[in-house]
Amino acid sequence: MKGKIKGIILAGGTGSRLYPLTKVTNKHLLPVYNKPMIFYPLETLKKLGINDICIVSGGEHITDFIRLLGSGSEFEVKLTYKVQDGPKGIAHALLQAEEFVKKGEKATVILGDNIFEKVKVPLNVFSDKNAYIYLKEVEDPERFGVAKLSDSGEVIKILEKPKSPISKFAVTGLYIYPNDVFDFIKTLKPSQRGELEITDVNNWYLKQERLKVVFLDGFWSDAGTFESLLKATLFVANKMVVKGQE
Ligand code: G1P
Repeated sequence: MKGKIKGIILAGGTGSRLYPLTKVTNKHLLPVYNKPMIFYPLETLKKLGINDICIVSGGEHITDFIRLLGSGSEFEVKLTYKVQDGPKGIAHALLQAEEFVKKGEKATVILGDNIFEKVKVPLNVFSDKNAYIYLKEVEDPERFGVAKLSDSGEVIKILEKPKSPISKFAVTGLYIYPNDVFDFIKTLKPSQRGELEITDVNNWYLKQERLKVVFLDGFWSDAGTFESLLKATLFVANKMVVKGQE
């Protein structure tokens, strides 16, 4: 794994759903129990064997990330930082990491507010030209990108925050993309909410029959709303009590 796949943590946005917690700081620096939120996606990438990682955030907060994480040596990773000018969406944030991912390399992309208990790497991820998404069954799919599945479990389409959910399978904030993702993002137009959507990226791979799906076991939550931040915090706290680390 090492060296072949780069990691990218997307940590931009306004964090408007957590206002006023995010009035003066970035969402991904807020605590999830006893650690800043961004520590969790960093640990997830490390668990996947990825140690060459780029963090993308807005110019207002990038220096806070540098103060917190530095070169990454304390975490046994190598960190690169890229600035996203304005909260223009997840796909736009990803585009800022274009030069970080060399030809022939794949990028594992994780949203900075996503907390995963367990992750797994598909076997042939190096040898193929496919993109991978990770799905999780949830009770509130309308808050996420949602995948409609066929009877045999193939993805038929993905909709971003559909009003009436087409399934209970949320597209989580963990994606593996081949290098051509960047050229495709450059052709994207902003959605109705004025952002370059990661769901449009995933649907492009789906149309080309290059989208593979991994079903997740274990806990998963975002932490971008008061409710989900609390849920993630309680999960981490309980896990630590169980482990006897409290
Ligand atoms: C984003 C993505 C959505 C995905 C979610 C996972 O939503 O747009 O497709 O399901 O992250 O956390 P957002 O955080 O922008 O609401």
